[in-house]
Amino acid sequence: MRTRPFYIIGNWKSNKTLDEAISWFQDFSALWKKQPLRLTNIKIILCPSSIHLSTLKSIIELSGIPLLLGAQDASAFPIGAYTGDVAADMLKNLVAFSLVGHSERRKYHHETEEQLSMKVELLQKAQIVPVYCVQNAEMVVPGQCEMVGYEPVWAIGTGKPDTAANANMVAEKIKTTNPFVKNVIYGGSVTAKNVAEYALTTALDGVLPGGASLDPVAFFELITHAATA
Ligand code: PGA
Repeated sequence: MRTRPFYIIGNWKSNKTLDEAISWFQDFSALWKKQPLRLTNIKIILCPSSIHLSTLKSIIELSGIPLLLGAQDASAFPIGAYTGDVAADMLKNLVAFSLVGHSERRKYHHETEEQLSMKVELLQKAQIVPVYCVQNAEMVVPGQCEMVGYEPVWAIGTGKPDTAANANMVAEKIKTTNPFVKNVIYGGSVTAKNVAEYALTTALDGVLPGGASLDPVAFFELITHAATA
């Protein structure tokens, strides 16, 4: 049995209307009630669009299902005149975690290392754990982040995941280079079929499924496979 926590962080990206998000949760909770999982040392975190966080938080709390919420991003600026931004302080009572620097943010929004460091600092001040995404072990991890997501771009949404052995090696390297990093999670085409391989490694502390978190059945199956690995 695992003695250290294993994080499963589902990233919905820019998918799902509010109705779809609610119906995802209703289906997920029906599966859970039918087959409650014993999640010793497994932590499940769901990162929906930030506009759904509040509604999902209420319905998750009512259900009693141990599902935590995370944000996909946060502003590089504090609360103030920054049109369209969601400040870390606004996320404070909604989420425990927030992704920072996902490769899609870097690619489509040209986020710079400087901006990412500002995000990390504001999230930490708001007591939200930043999950700092890197694409290899050489990228700089700012702000003494304790949690890092290793996400090679070529594995994201391609159905061609990195091997568990290589992801484990990268995780080891990230931890050695940045001794403050406690947890490294792997993202890139993680599914119910391969999650056990990552769960059985020595240096990986979790996974970050995107596509496989969109369907409640697939996500539930992924959690089941991780829990029984
Ligand atoms: P994927 O996405 O699981 O759909 O490959 C992973 C991610 O981008 O976090």
